[in-house]
Amino acid sequence: MAGRQIRVNINGTDHQAIVEPRLSLADFLRHELGLTGTHIGCEHGVCGICNVLIDGRSMRSCLLLAVQVDGRSVETVEGLAEGEKLHPIQEAFMDEQGLQCGFCTPGFIMSLKELLDRNPNPSEDEIKDVLGGSICRCTGYAGILRAVQSAVAKMGGGRPSLLD
Ligand code: FES
Ligand code: FES
Repeated sequence: MAGRQIRVNINGTDHQAIVEPRLSLADFLRHELGLTGTHIGCEHGVCGICNVLIDGRSMRSCLLLAVQVDGRSVETVEGLAEGEKLHPIQEAFMDEQGLQCGFCTPGFIMSLKELLDRNPNPSEDEIKDVLGGSICRCTGYAGILRAVQSAVAKMGGGRPSLLD
């Protein structure tokens, strides 16, 4: 199958590539660019593990084709830290043990980042709405909720009472 050229900005760096039209964005990131921080779970849009930001909006990279991000900006979990300094959301997940195996963590972090970039002081309903889009199979969610509380507080919002 003939490849198509795409140009995409990923984590602030411009990339050009020739991709097969049916290549998913998740596979492009992981296998063509080596950005394996984006994980793949269900591969059909249910688990949210593969979430990345496209022009600032959280989307399932397993449901998108690489050709669909031609001309767009993509942000993956690799783009969050500044050198050794973790992003506040990453720090919160680490400090509050918001993960066990960590497989789901990039998806939660990216969807939460979209929310907090848009609104640093979201309501509990908005937070729950975002968290409901991702599935964790091992933490029982208490650590994730603590991490979210901490992340919202770190980024300037009030501390939501998600565990009450
Ligand atoms: S791997 Fe994309 S939603 Fe599950
Ligand atoms: S920490 Fe293991 S799936 Fe969420």
